[in-house]
Amino acid sequence: MSTPLAELHMHIEGSLEPELIFALAERNKVELPYRDLDDLRGRYEFSDLQSFLDLYFANMAVLRTEQDFADLARAYFARAAAGGVGHAEIFFNPQAHTARGVPLRAVLDGLGDAVRASAAEFGLTSDLIVAVLRDRPAEEGMAMLDELLGLDVPVLGIGLDSAEVGNPPSLFEDVFARARANGLRAVAHAGEEGPPEYIRQALDVLKVERVDHGVRCLEDAELVARLVEEQIPLTVCPLSNVRLRVVDTLADHPLRTMLDAGLLVTVNSDDPAYFGGYVDDNFARLQAELGLTAEERETLARNSIRASFASQERKAALL
Ligand code: HPA
Ligand code: ZN
Repeated sequence: MSTPLAELHMHIEGSLEPELIFALAERNKVELPYRDLDDLRGRYEFSDLQSFLDLYFANMAVLRTEQDFADLARAYFARAAAGGVGHAEIFFNPQAHTARGVPLRAVLDGLGDAVRASAAEFGLTSDLIVAVLRDRPAEEGMAMLDELLGLDVPVLGIGLDSAEVGNPPSLFEDVFARARANGLRAVAHAGEEGPPEYIRQALDVLKVERVDHGVRCLEDAELVARLVEEQIPLTVCPLSNVRLRVVDTLADHPLRTMLDAGLLVTVNSDDPAYFGGYVDDNFARLQAELGLTAEERETLARNSIRASFASQERKAALL
């Protein structure tokens, strides 16, 4: 039996499959700008991060009620569990919903219901990470965090996502300081499209415990040495990197280089509905196109559990 996986880098809104987009549009009487499923699927062709984000945010228009968020998360947990995921720490983007008039409470109650149910139904434990949109003002992120902290809901951590270049981590120093002071675990997207310097800022200014993506660390040998020395987990997303043209092909992906360098690398799906598959699909394609071995898969699975924020008891049960 292979070791279960912990998925640590997955945006729940990025698991919104085309079929669910159409079903929720009908349920909520939202008019879609697509003729049919094929028309929508034909638009899943991206030239960079921003071209993906445009579609990702547009499709969220169908998410309106607590039930919608519960259905979305339940679908992800069912699919992830079937793919060997035993624990998941999932991002959600409150600002993208409250800006459309959806109450933060509805988002959290819906996701929270699915989180609780998935342990019993699928044996998959999970936690929520609130992701701050870095292309929105830090003040807006702070206001969102304040509202969230006032709701007294179980959120494990804080992350930073959306358009990276030109929106460095340092802009969010105060937001992350407040989140950490309130017990949230800190992670941030850095070094996906942005330079190695953003990875340094995430570590030194935001004081993150994990870096999401981080692949561009390879351009900076001193930074790699530090990440190895401190065993900072990097949540790498191979299919995402190909679809957003961070790398040319999966065969060119630096995953093995990163593993061989001693970096604490994990494999994740990022936005599985948009990038060609769930975490097990990432592994299957890595096996086929990068020649990933069973031993490397086991190392990556153990890394994911080690890099998770699960309790020691849960980690021991998964290993
Ligand atoms: N990068 C930045 N922001 C995101 C991503 C990503 O890969 N997916 C969803 N939001
Ligand atoms: Zn991401």
